[in-house]
Amino acid sequence: MSEIECEKVLPYASEGNNKTEQVEEMFDKIAEQYDTMNGLMSLYQDRYWRRETLRSLKDLHPQRLLDIATGTADLAINAYEELEPKEIIGVDLSENMLKMGRKKVEAKNLLNVITLKQGDSLNLEFDDASFDAITVAFGVRNFADLQKGLSEMNRVLKEGGRAAILELSEPTNPLIKLGYKIYTRGFIPVMAKLVAKDLRAYEYLPESIAACPQGERMASLLRQCGFSSVKVRTFMFGACSLYVANK
Ligand SMILES: C[S@@+](CC[C@H](N)C(=O)[O-])C[C@H]1O[C@@H](n2cnc3c(N)ncnc32)[C@H](O)[C@@H]1O
Repeated sequence: MSEIECEKVLPYASEGNNKTEQVEEMFDKIAEQYDTMNGLMSLYQDRYWRRETLRSLKDLHPQRLLDIATGTADLAINAYEELEPKEIIGVDLSENMLKMGRKKVEAKNLLNVITLKQGDSLNLEFDDASFDAITVAFGVRNFADLQKGLSEMNRVLKEGGRAAILELSEPTNPLIKLGYKIYTRGFIPVMAKLVAKDLRAYEYLPESIAACPQGERMASLLRQCGFSSVKVRTFMFGACSLYVANK
């Protein structure tokens, strides 16, 4: 069992449930407002970040793709548009997030390509070496055991396969970090009160971002979990990071 800061950051600290159960409960609660809040909070950059994540897989021409922590399925749908694989499977803990995702997949007529399943990324139901590529956007900082989650990704990837991991991070420049803190701890909770039903979810957000390994630390964890040649790219002064890791 690994001991990484973000594993100890819980959505609802006072309750008895473990992190995985609390994360599922939190996303079940905010599912209907999730897409609206995500766009607002990221100043609509989330769409660009997801596209760039998928572009990092383009040269691989993946045919079987797994989208971990798929949520409302934006990345899974974008993956079809960018990469046109034969099959995409999206896995998520939260049935309410998946429900929103299934509506979008159906509206896009993609039910024959994209399958959304409830499941835990820490214990994937798939065989070893069964996917060409894996994507995960804004998911890993919610894992109760980050190393287990990254190792599971490595296990189900084929040799020569690639994982593209997008995660929110903190800017490193002190001045920009100050502005970022005012934004995430001042503006976002106000928006959360207005739009979302769960203020705590949007307090948990900056707390979990601050506690999540980023940059070289995340790259080093990925290498420990079996990946090689990890590339790191940042967006918006470091407010978001993309890790592209080959197996
Ligand atoms: C911030 S949302 C991201 C959703 C989507 N990937 C996107 O790009 O908008 C995080 C999602 O990760 C899911 N999640 C967190 N931990 C998970 C786990 N251990 N296994 C599966 N899903 C998980 C949550 O239920 C939630 O839907």
